[in-house]
Amino acid sequence: MKIIKVKDYQEMSRLASEQVIDKINNTEKPVLGLATGSTPEGLYQNLIDANKNNLVSFKNVTTFNLDEYIGLASDDPNSYNYFMNEKLFKHIDIEPSNTHLPNGKATDIEQECQDYEDLIKKTGKVNLQILGLGVNGHIAFNEPGTSFSSRTQKTELVEETIEANARFFDRKEDVPTHAITMGIESIMESEEIILLASGKNKAKAIKQLVEGEVTEDFPASILQKHPHATIIVDQDAASLLE
Ligand code: F6R
Repeated sequence: MKIIKVKDYQEMSRLASEQVIDKINNTEKPVLGLATGSTPEGLYQNLIDANKNNLVSFKNVTTFNLDEYIGLASDDPNSYNYFMNEKLFKHIDIEPSNTHLPNGKATDIEQECQDYEDLIKKTGKVNLQILGLGVNGHIAFNEPGTSFSSRTQKTELVEETIEANARFFDRKEDVPTHAITMGIESIMESEEIILLASGKNKAKAIKQLVEGEVTEDFPASILQKHPHATIIVDQDAASLLE
């Protein structure tokens, strides 16, 4: 696992965007794995700027997002479908049919999870997966205790995650309690992974991810075992590292 320490959020976002652009420009049919949340917003803005300045094109790019809340339609402003459109897709030259997120309104959630897995497999593999980090060590919505051999599945969000995500909703009670998430094994099959973390509130989790034991109690720790995982952290998030 490679650790890159940078000064601040801007530098983290810039470096991550350079690596994404590099991957796109050096892969024939690039497949990106994308995350939502606050952390990758700067990265997405940089990608929009680079696309506008003709430094990168998304015409051949396919994307798969990590997760979606169950019960929210894709046009719900709190859905991850909506987030991705607003923060990235509608501003770049990507083919909308090449962007994929789980359908949180699917009538058969189990089937939806299976279909999502199958679609990723049919596309090949994710060439570059972007991850954020939950303060409790979750990656995607794989909460502590999730099996390392999990595939795309329905998951129940823990209280800590509901509280952390309540900032996006009018009321905490509006945060959905369940989500569809790519599994840990599905994520680990990506050719390359970049995890981003910024800010003091991620410092403890980053320390455990980098220096702690590999355990299902702290899902992100599995990245220590990935052959091409890079962690880009700003000074605050890296502040507890030895
Ligand atoms: C989002 C996701 C989550 C977030 C994590 C950190 O698609 O999979 O694991 O990456 O909760 O969220 P932020 O970036 O808002 O701190």
